[in-house]
Parts: sequence; structure tokens; C-alpha cells
Amino acid sequence: MTGSNAKQVYFSAECVKIVPLTKEGDGVPRRISDDMIAKICDENDIIDYVSQYVSLKKSGRDYSGLCPFHNEKTPSFHVSREKQLFHCFGCGASGNLVQFVMRTENLDFVDALKLLADRAGIIIPEDDGNFSDANHEKKKRIFEMNKCAARFFYQCLKEKSIGETARQYFVKRGISWKTVTVYGLGYAPDSRDALLKHLASKGFKTGEIVEAGLAVSREGKIYDKFRGRVMFPIIDVRGNVIGFGGRIMHDNKDTNGYKIPKYLNSPETPVFDKGKNLFSLNLAKNAKAADIILCEGYMDVISVYQAGIKNIVATLGTAITENQAKLMMRYANEILICYDSDEAGTKAALRAIDIISDAGGRSRVIRLKNAKDPDEYINKNGVEKFRETVNKAVPSTEFKISLIKKQYDTTDTEGKIQFIEEVVKVFEKLKDAVEIDAYITKVAEDTGISRDAILSKYREKTSKNTYRRIPQKTEYQKKAERRNRENTRDLKATGALIEAEKRLIGLISQSKKLYKTASRELKAEDFSTDVYRRLAKSIYECYDNGISPDAAMILNDFGGDDISEASEVFYNLEVYNGDEATVRELLYTIKLEKLNIRINSETNAAALARLFTERERVLEEKNTWEE
Ligand code: UTP
Ligand code: MN
Repeated sequence: MTGSNAKQVYFSAECVKIVPLTKEGDGVPRRISDDMIAKICDENDIIDYVSQYVSLKKSGRDYSGLCPFHNEKTPSFHVSREKQLFHCFGCGASGNLVQFVMRTENLDFVDALKLLADRAGIIIPEDDGNFSDANHEKKKRIFEMNKCAARFFYQCLKEKSIGETARQYFVKRGISWKTVTVYGLGYAPDSRDALLKHLASKGFKTGEIVEAGLAVSREGKIYDKFRGRVMFPIIDVRGNVIGFGGRIMHDNKDTNGYKIPKYLNSPETPVFDKGKNLFSLNLAKNAKAADIILCEGYMDVISVYQAGIKNIVATLGTAITENQAKLMMRYANEILICYDSDEAGTKAALRAIDIISDAGGRSRVIRLKNAKDPDEYINKNGVEKFRETVNKAVPSTEFKISLIKKQYDTTDTEGKIQFIEEVVKVFEKLKDAVEIDAYITKVAEDTGISRDAILSKYREKTSKNTYRRIPQKTEYQKKAERRNRENTRDLKATGALIEAEKRLIGLISQSKKLYKTASRELKAEDFSTDVYRRLAKSIYECYDNGISPDAAMILNDFGGDDISEASEVFYNLEVYNGDEATVRELLYTIKLEKLNIRINSETNAAALARLFTERERVLEEKNTWEE
């Protein structure tokens, strides 16, 4: 089963998770104590969890199955209950349960832990003091209720006669049944209390249902909030149904001729904050794309997703917030704004550009021609044309300048002056000196006004701004730089040295005695790769604090590309049989390999001679020991 198949089960079956949201959307993971991490890991079993994704068979001491991270026909994916680790001998994917969750659900470490905590019924205490059990229970109840409602709406849509019109509506809009199940779309029957009754039968009280925003009280009577609408569940990145959007299936008139809203959304509830969530981010994050397309409507997202472009989200009927911008930036480097092509859409895009930029993000604008929104565009022109427009997304600054240009007649002197006046305001928002320079040149070329004149206008405007923000490096840039540094540092390490260090770390992780022997000769910082140095440091620290190291726990400190390298050390571990000889042997190998490396790169004759002598000495020592 591939990741994306797993996703589908995720909604339509039992798997929409009941997860209490703790603090959300601020994008800053809280620290979770090591004790808590240990507890969460203890109370979740890797075999149970992985079995949701992979059909596992017992093979020897391990379980094995088809790897969920690459395509294969024969199982090379192994899971060990004993070690609480997984390892794929095919693609090298490896790690502990938290890392498995991170990969399959595309969550960060803290969110993966939260998911596992919720699964085990563990409450991670809030450190800001706002947390209370009552609140937690309430949220949990609402999630449960929302999930129940989502299933109900879905069942109604499936129901032969009740769902007929709604099914036809989706067909008319080009939505396949597969898409219906992926999104868990549904239908709220045109009834005063169909959902109320259903939820009551499941033990939910009227007051709770109103609080969850699923019913409204009017003139002393309680009604279903959503009646006669096709339903769009809104699901957060952890798989909780947090709210709904519902659309009427005809024009904007109800039966009495009053204008009623086209879309109705859940109100703000203890679990639903429209400014902190995005429609379809739960699916978009799995696309693992470099950018995320942001559009306005639910139907836009669904159409584009159905056409195979999955990195697309929408706001929830309100203007984009800084919180939402940050949320997107967790999963993408750049946000591609794809708003409606009308004036309102253009204005909203301008606001979005600034909000994203204030949140520290980058954006471009996708411009749709001859269609009002992405849904219409893709239905008219097909996905390939849509892809082309996405690829032609213009940088935000260019977009802003082109809009200003439309307002003024730049063939006219007065028009030019006003145009420059406005454009300079755009430059003020830019953070990158090169970017500012490039745009000044471009505007100078376009208008025939000298660079110097524009520049001095710009300086005049910005002279009041004494403080200019320096652009910060993105996480991605930082990671790439780190990798480059490490690669050069580790360049010289030979395969034999790496192999010996790997075996050594595996062995010392099993015995304090071996650790003592090894640490006398090798400090943690003496290991050759960054990952090994960190592993050794963790293991050494455990022993120094009287704790026996736990592989799965130690691995929690590793992320990204490092997990596999770290995890491999433990997965293929040779079992310590009480004999210290292997460790001694390995220590000699390491020493000799390091000497060989130095010999190979040494150019000074005297130094070389010393190294040869040293190697002789070590070899001799080794021989004596072996005898
Ligand atoms: P649109 O009016 O652009 O609708 O609203 P749409 O997404 O293109 O939908 P279709 O194609 O007519 O079905 C964009 C978004 O604004 C919010 C909804 O989130 C909608 O998806 N909205 C719109 C409301 O919340 N209420 C409304 O009455 C209308
Ligand atoms: Mn539309």
C-alpha cells in the first residue's frame, strides 16, 4: 500500500482520528519533556501502528511487508517489536515509530508525538497554564461529534433516494465518486433535525450539538444548521474534522424567494478557528511539493486536486491571516496565490502578498485568463493548460507593479510621475537589496526615467525607515548549507572506517562495559560523521547518567536525512555476546583507518615518517593483544 492509498482509507473508513487539539497554529512547536516522549513511545506499539499501513507477516524475530516508502513486489520492509524500529532493506528507510508517523502523515516531530499521544489517550500538559481537562474533554467530544456528522452526511449522499440530487450536483460539477471519498464529501438532508436525531441516537446532547456549530437555536427551537446542502468537511493536518462548509445546490434563493448564502460554514467553535486552518492542507502536505497553491474556494481546491495537482489549499471563507501563511510555510517554500480573476480577487491577492511577506514567506501570483476561478479554468482548459499558468506565476512585486501600471497612463509625463510615486511604495516593502535594484532598473527601462531619479525617490521614501529587515535564511537553505559543510568534513572517511564506527556504536549501545572500554579511547567527537558523533554523545550521556540507552528514544533527536543513517546503526545491530574482543578489534580498525587516511593525505616527509612509526606501533600493540 502506498502512502496515498493509505490516505484514502484515512477519511472514509474508521480512521479520522479523534485528537484533542492542544495549542494550534502558532507554528512554534512546544517542547515536550523526555519523560513524556518516553511515555508516549511506551504506550504505542510500532507493529500495531504500522499494520494500519502495511500488511505485516511474522518473519523470524521481525515482521515484514511491502515497503510503504517505495514501490516493490517482494517485502523488504522489516519492523521489530523488540527494538520498536522499522527498516527497509530495499530503500533504506529506517527509524522509530515517531519517525514512521512523521513520514506517513507528513507531520513534524511534535505533531507526530501528539498524534501518538492521542492514540494512547495520553494528555500532553500545556505548559502555558491554559490547559484544563474540561477543555480537553470538550474538544475531544466535538471532534467525535464532527466525525459522526461527517459520516452521516456521507451516508446520506450515498443513500439511494435521499442523496440523489446531491450526487447529481457533484456529477454536474465534474466531481468523481473517488474524489467524494477522498474528501469525505456528503449531503445534509433538507430536514429540520435529521442530523440532530442522528447525533442524539449516538448519545450527544442538544447543547453540545449547538456548541459544535452543527445545530442552531432560533426562537426557542433547535434546528440542524446545515439543511439541503452538499457538505465539505474541513479536516486539520492531524486528521480531525474541525468544521464544515455547506453549499446550496441551486441559485441563491430558498423556496420562499429569500436570498440565502451560497456557502454556509461552521461557526467558530472550541476546535474551529477559521484563521488558523486551511481547507485540504491535510492532503496538500502529502504532495511534498516545493510550493503550495492558495485559492479562494472549496470547489477550486477539489477540482484542481482531482486533476492531479495536490498541493492546493483554500482559506475558509475569510481573508488569509498571518497564521495561515505560517502554516503553509511549514510545508512549502513558496505560496502561489491563485485567486479569482475579478476585482475582488485581485484586491485579495494584493493583501495576501503583504500578509505572506509579513509572515516571512514568499509568494507569486497565478493569473487566470478567461475564467473566473481555478475550478472554471481547469474545467474549460484542462489540467495541462492550468499547469502552464502555474509555471508562469509572476513574482509578487512584478504583479504589484503591473497593477499600478494599469492605473496610470505611462506614455504621459504626469502619468509617469504618479506611476513612479506608487511603485516606490512597493519597493519599500522589499527586503532584498538585489531585488530592489533589479526592479529599479526594470522600471527605468519601461518608463525612460533615469535609474538615479527613481533611486533617489526611493531613498527619500525609505530614509525614515532606519531599520531595514535583513532577510533570514530559510530552514531549507540552512539545511543545505549544513549538509555541504558536513560532506566536506566527512569526505575523507573511508567505507571501512564508517563501517567500524557503525558497528562500534551498535555494540556499545548494549553494554556499559563495552562503553567504558570504547570511551577510554574514543570521545564522542572523534567519530567521523555528524550523525555518529551525535549518536555517541547521546549514548555516552545515557551511561554517564546511569540510564541504559534506548535506541528508539535516541532516534527522536534525528530528523530528515539523518534518521536513516542513525537508525541503521541500531537496526542491523550485532548482538553483544558478552565478549569484548569485537569492540577491541573495532577500536584498532578505527585507529588504523584514521592513520591510513592521514598517511594518504600527508605531504610533509617528516610528518609522514612519524605517521608510519605510529602505525607500526599500533599494529604491534594489536598483534600482542591478539596473542
Ligand atoms: P466563491 O463565491 O468564489 O465560490 O467563494 P466558489 O468557491 O467558486 O464556489 P462555486 O464554484 O460557486 O461552488 C469562495 C469561497 O468563499 C467562501 C467559501 O469558502 C467559498 O469556497 N464563501 C463564499 C462563503 O463562505 N460564503 C458564501 O456565501 C460564499
Ligand atoms: Mn467557483
